[in-house]
Amino acid sequence: MRWNPVASRRADSREESIPEGQRLSRRLFVHKVTAITAAALAGSSLLEGCGAAAEQPTAPTARPSVAPTTAPAAADSATLADAFKNRRSANAFRSDPLPREKLLDLLWAAWGINRPDSGKRTAPSAGNSQEMDLYVLLPEGTFLYDAQQNQLTAVSDQDLRSKAGGGKFGDAAVNLVFVADYAKFKMGSRAEQEMWSAAHAGFIGQNVYLFCAAEGLGARFYAGIDRAALKESLGLRTDQVVVFGQAVGVPNE
Ligand SMILES: Cc1cc2nc3c(=O)[nH]c(=O)nc-3n(C[C@H](O)[C@H](O)[C@H](O)COP(=O)(O)O)c2cc1C
Repeated sequence: MRWNPVASRRADSREESIPEGQRLSRRLFVHKVTAITAAALAGSSLLEGCGAAAEQPTAPTARPSVAPTTAPAAADSATLADAFKNRRSANAFRSDPLPREKLLDLLWAAWGINRPDSGKRTAPSAGNSQEMDLYVLLPEGTFLYDAQQNQLTAVSDQDLRSKAGGGKFGDAAVNLVFVADYAKFKMGSRAEQEMWSAAHAGFIGQNVYLFCAAEGLGARFYAGIDRAALKESLGLRTDQVVVFGQAVGVPNE
């Protein structure tokens, strides 16, 4: 069984060998390829993954297009059982960058829209609140994951990675910051909402862990964050709260 539905974007013929129910629908296939192509237009780190000269991005807009053509090789061959067996928290990371295409695959697995008809996602949320925003901290700046387009929206050109995990995981190519937007909840007391947000971050974080395990990447979920400092750096509103972080990159161990 192939755990990563993104792999099926490689070729229609591949769908024939995947059992009904595990296939990525054509509609989602088209949606995803379109989105990733749009993202490729926007992202320069993808060029690094293709061996082309890297630009220093200031914002992910209007970049030369390099359309992704292949699914991640490791995920393509990893089974769900392999991913469970290999899931662990990395202790240290190398500074190798993550190609933009792989980053977008990671984000889609983490918290992407897997049912375009309803807009529902790869992780559940209480009352389908979808209050969690993923801020993506990269060397070239800080971005917000746009699940609708499966791409990144620029927030700032600052590298905030060292501020996210108490300085411990600043070397990791990516630090994800889970930000709960309490204005999006339509029900529940604040205490219930906080409990739900913690659960939501856990589901998303586990998606990240499993993706990384399948890809041979390292990940570490963490609570140790200077929330007030990061909130200010990210320019969050009062009702947005930094809940957890997660470092992702090439493990150094
Ligand atoms: C809610 C939560 C908070 C965590 N906070 C931190 C943290 O602040 N710093 C850290 O290095 N690891 C943190 N971790 C990672 C745990 O230390 C790690 O999951 C644990 O040692 C078990 O290791 P494993 O993930 O490899 O099974 C956290 C994990 C969870 C689930």
